[in-house]
Amino acid sequence: MKELTTALKTGLTGELTVPGDKSISHRAIMLGALAEGTTTIHNFLQSKDCLSTLKAFQDLGVEIDNQIDVVTVRGVGLNGLKQPQKPLDMGNSGTTTRLIMGILAAQRFQTDLFGDDSLSKRPLDRVCQPLRQMGAKIESKTDKLPLTIEPSQIKPITYDLPVASAQVKSAVILAGLFAQGKTQIIEKQPTRDHTKRLLNTFAPDTIQTQADKITVNPPKQLVGQTVEIPSDISSAAFFMVAAATLPNSDLTLKAISLNKTRTGLLKVLEKMGVQLTFKNQRNLSGEPVADVQVKTSQLNAIELKESDIPAMIDELPIIALLCSFANGTSKITGAQELRVKETDRIAAVVTEFKKLGIAITELPDGFIIEGKPELTIVNPQLSSHKDHRIGMTLAIAALKANQSLELADAEYVGISYPSFFEDLEKVMR
Ligand code: S3P
Repeated sequence: MKELTTALKTGLTGELTVPGDKSISHRAIMLGALAEGTTTIHNFLQSKDCLSTLKAFQDLGVEIDNQIDVVTVRGVGLNGLKQPQKPLDMGNSGTTTRLIMGILAAQRFQTDLFGDDSLSKRPLDRVCQPLRQMGAKIESKTDKLPLTIEPSQIKPITYDLPVASAQVKSAVILAGLFAQGKTQIIEKQPTRDHTKRLLNTFAPDTIQTQADKITVNPPKQLVGQTVEIPSDISSAAFFMVAAATLPNSDLTLKAISLNKTRTGLLKVLEKMGVQLTFKNQRNLSGEPVADVQVKTSQLNAIELKESDIPAMIDELPIIALLCSFANGTSKITGAQELRVKETDRIAAVVTEFKKLGIAITELPDGFIIEGKPELTIVNPQLSSHKDHRIGMTLAIAALKANQSLELADAEYVGISYPSFFEDLEKVMR
């Protein structure tokens, strides 16, 4: 049980650089491993999920030197991975699992994958289906972990994504690198495009997009790069919401990715009436970034629907908290994907917010939230539900509470943000 900081009288002030982007960190290791030559990664996210990816590629025979500040990957080329000595441990990481499946489907050796209890309940049929169409041999009773991937020859397909998922899109792209011919993916609802951006720096023109059609042109080789990873907007989100809602806040989050497939939260903040200022706009390894200043603001309620969701999917728990402090009733729908995250995030948000006295109604695909300025605690024993983003959302909520609160399974924040509580201390002073 972790005692949370409550009843914060001051706002959040100063500057904060949150750790590197989780999605880009996974992809930098994967592409670095498949490249010819050395890839040097700066600002790699040293969190449990990303370390699952790093370790898996070490087990696949890739030399990776993790010096914390700099990670050096000695690429083995597209055909250089080796059969691991033991099953690969995916930990809690859905991104590691779904993306690596695309790569492993095309190898000449068999691999076994397993993960923790939460990950073993999450659906993989969404990845198995297109990969099997490409010729992959994936053995699993329920299309969940544990599973076995057998050697196969990958062929190109045209795949119409049935679910808005960057992980599924990326699995097909990565398998497509090994196909004899062009793979095409139809993506009606745009999702994060980091695989495309990074891949095109390792092998220009590998991915082309035209309207909703993504074409993978299998490259002869990827060439090792220096990758500078921007700060993760999904981690900065907790501080942005805290700064917007706590009195007298003036906080600048440095080097945040402004990739429009990820900036749904910024649009939501602005629409709800939050003052944002963008400074020092620049480019880091193909991603637009800026320093984002957030000040305390009066908040209006908001309505979010299915087409809004992919660009803010991981921020929805903290957006729900933002809505709970707005004037009026907010409604979020079309977010059924939250049901299959690290925990059922709709159920977890509703259960925990009720303990905080927030008037929230559960919908099959979202929530209705009535805003009010203060919390009225009903039950001070909170739980992260072993989900990093639920844990961090509750830690931010606690800052507004007028009595002590405890959080069970708080250590799960380390899945994406090991220094979260220390960073929060820094900006509270
Ligand atoms: C991710 C894609 C999203 C997101 C996850 C990271 C990625 O998942 O929720 O945290 O790096 O591709 P889905 O593909 O399931 O939407």
